[in-house]
Amino acid sequence: MNLPPFKLERYFAKYEFNTEYLLCASDCESLSIGELLALDAESADAAEKFQRVWLGYTESQGSPTLRAEICNLYETIQPEDILVHAGAEEAIFLFMFAAFKEYDHVIIHSPAYQSLAEVARAAGCDVSPWRAREENGWSLDLEELRHLMRTNTKAIIINTPHNPTGYLMSRADYDAVHEFAQANKLLLFSDEVYRESEYDPAARLPAGCDYGEHAVSLGVTSKTYGLAGLRVGWIATKNKKLYEKMASLKDYTTICNSAPSEFLAEVGMRNRQKLIERNLGIIKQNLTVIDDLFARTRSLFEWVRPQAGSMGFPRYLRGNVEKFCDELVKHAGVLLLPGSVYGDSNGHFRLGLGRKNLPQAVEKLEEFLVR
Ligand SMILES: Cc1ncc(COP(=O)(O)O)c(C=O)c1O
Repeated sequence: MNLPPFKLERYFAKYEFNTEYLLCASDCESLSIGELLALDAESADAAEKFQRVWLGYTESQGSPTLRAEICNLYETIQPEDILVHAGAEEAIFLFMFAAFKEYDHVIIHSPAYQSLAEVARAAGCDVSPWRAREENGWSLDLEELRHLMRTNTKAIIINTPHNPTGYLMSRADYDAVHEFAQANKLLLFSDEVYRESEYDPAARLPAGCDYGEHAVSLGVTSKTYGLAGLRVGWIATKNKKLYEKMASLKDYTTICNSAPSEFLAEVGMRNRQKLIERNLGIIKQNLTVIDDLFARTRSLFEWVRPQAGSMGFPRYLRGNVEKFCDELVKHAGVLLLPGSVYGDSNGHFRLGLGRKNLPQAVEKLEEFLVR
């Protein structure tokens, strides 16, 4: 297996824990264990129960009560269709190795969270990027998808709401991608880790797994719900064969999940409406700050305003974006993520919208710009 460095993670490794303002985080503002437990209607009870969590091995597929809670995200999914992992990252890893073999071809929404393409390559796949077009609001062209098809194509991998652009696919396009996958007997891996963070809830797409056995939905507590430190992710699928393969591979990675994290993830998912309301409130407030900033700095930045999620992918119009990000973090303590970590060479950078201190970060950014 040959896995090159995960560029985004290596960039974060340099700055994440020594920089004051993370203006490029993909996750929403987190909270403490105490704050999470206090969200629960029976909070005294939840705190009490947390003390009694047993620290033995847990059920490999995830605790039945956590899986039952996760099922509430879906229409047709049962607890036995959910496989819980250590973050969405482990689920991506196991999916790629369970689903593919050498010389399979996969089509991947691009730019992409690097592991979606890289782990597929490491599993031996030939990967074709299906490019999001900025000139069309970062949308994907279905005609292009038809052209990317080969006789050995095994899967389409999409991510909507999208990291890093905040693009939300239209219902018509989403239905068409599912129809295309079904008609061509392809798997559809639907990375939905930013689902339930749509600015207009009416635009929320159905979960992929509810379309049928061809589809796998990827979810996680990290992003919309702001609980990244739990490291709890999952896949939901009615594809039993694939489920079993992934479950069997998990014996070689983490075997089972962390018991305290499973308990807290269950509390989080039970109270997810409260977390969504809180985090969307932060995002929407931050969007007004960014709208104002970009109105004041039209000659420096332009963007396609995101429709969902906790980030956008603006373009820096005054030269080398890597140098800009580098100087910004060194002189102002504000971290942006240059698009090069996504293989982008058009001056884009990732802007995070989910953190409470965004207004202060923007102040620092503007002071830096004036200097
Ligand atoms: C699109 C996408 N998928 C998967 C993941 C992995 O999530 P986690 O780090 O919580 O495992 C991320 C994290 O940034 C992501 O943006």
